[in-house]
Amino acid sequence: MFPEDFLWGAATAAYQIEGGARDGGRGTSIWDTFSHTPGKTFNGDTGDLACDHFHRFREDVKLMKSLGLHAYRFSISWPRIQPDGTGTVNAAGVDFYSELMDSLLEAEIVPVPTLYHWDLPQKLEDGGGWPNRETADRFADYADVVFRAFGDRVNQWITLNEPWCVAHLGYFSGEHAPGRKSLGDCLSAGHTLLLAHGKAVERFRTLVPNGTIGITDNVAAVHPASSSSEDFAAASRWDAYMNGWFLDPIFLGDYPDLLKSVFGDILPTITEADRKLITLPTDFLGINYYSRSIMADDPSGDGLKVRGVSQPDAPVTAMGWEIYPDGLREILEQLTARYAKPALYITENGAAFDEVADGDGVVNDIPRLEYLKAHFISAGEAIQNGVNLKGYFVWSLMDNFEWAFGYDRRFGIVHVDYGTQIRTPKASAKWYAEVIASGGQLKQRTNERP
Ligand code: FCB
Repeated sequence: MFPEDFLWGAATAAYQIEGGARDGGRGTSIWDTFSHTPGKTFNGDTGDLACDHFHRFREDVKLMKSLGLHAYRFSISWPRIQPDGTGTVNAAGVDFYSELMDSLLEAEIVPVPTLYHWDLPQKLEDGGGWPNRETADRFADYADVVFRAFGDRVNQWITLNEPWCVAHLGYFSGEHAPGRKSLGDCLSAGHTLLLAHGKAVERFRTLVPNGTIGITDNVAAVHPASSSSEDFAAASRWDAYMNGWFLDPIFLGDYPDLLKSVFGDILPTITEADRKLITLPTDFLGINYYSRSIMADDPSGDGLKVRGVSQPDAPVTAMGWEIYPDGLREILEQLTARYAKPALYITENGAAFDEVADGDGVVNDIPRLEYLKAHFISAGEAIQNGVNLKGYFVWSLMDNFEWAFGYDRRFGIVHVDYGTQIRTPKASAKWYAEVIASGGQLKQRTNERP
């Protein structure tokens, strides 16, 4: 079902696991500010300590090795490299990632760094943040520093993680840092993120000529709530917003027409100069898939005039997200058809469940194992149907700081005891290790305790 050179991995992000928030000369990011603002995260949780990966990365690399991971997707914290987001480079930050990358290479695990997984240096937010076009230039300079420092050792790079979440959750709904609530800021942030991506790709081609680079976008299978033409139209609008807002400009050179007609002048225009940058060819597309969206028309609503609907009896995860594995095949096929068969990676897929560890930290997480198995099968079907899928990163290697949900939601295949920082592979991790060792065979036991 999976090609021999298929890359099996796991993913994390800097703010979610590193901790060491004040160590090694790290600057302040918008997530430090946001999580320390009362009422913004569950229980007031912050990433100050998280999984203490900053001090325990060697142990974590050993753990990855023991699971047989081929690759590890992690993110580089911009404020560790440039505490203020511009100029001065923090040597201790460069050293940290250098040692992490060397340990991975030594363990024969392919490092796949993401340049931006949401921790914008606070100083840049103070100067306007992502809605300010100049932030794209700051990002290009930061990317330049990183490519010069690590481009000799690391080949596979990701520019941004989920620009949709950065813009929508950060600047429109305000659920994520920096917590602004303005449609104009949100759409401008989206535009700057596209430029930032393009400018980073431009630098990459000169600095890492033999490397590969792409972007990671969150996508959903979008279905209408009924067979009415109104609900069909609503689903198309949501599809344009969820799946097309960033990918259409990158692969087709412009925002979807539906978004232009909904948002009018508030949506920035992609000028010819912008287009040249945004459409610079990339080597692959990373997608993060968790669930589907069922959309109904909502004439009384604002903007997109859509409303999400849930299936009454559908199985859901602890996030309340419907478990809908077939949507993965569907969206992979949709992207393959719409964007001329790009090379694809699933850069995140996984699930949170309410689970209890026994006294030894052991978690028999059969629901997660079943979730992953069903999604692997769906991905395998997509490959059979002609999708050029090259790898799969499970979210997440270990339990971690789940943004506004703090430590309340556990996505890891490895359990983390936050009191002792002891890591214990869950049943899903042991099962995943067997899948990898067998070259993607999915026959392994699923319902007995390993
Ligand atoms: C994605 C994020 C990732 C994690 C998962 C559950 O949107 O990229 O950091 O929080 O959701």
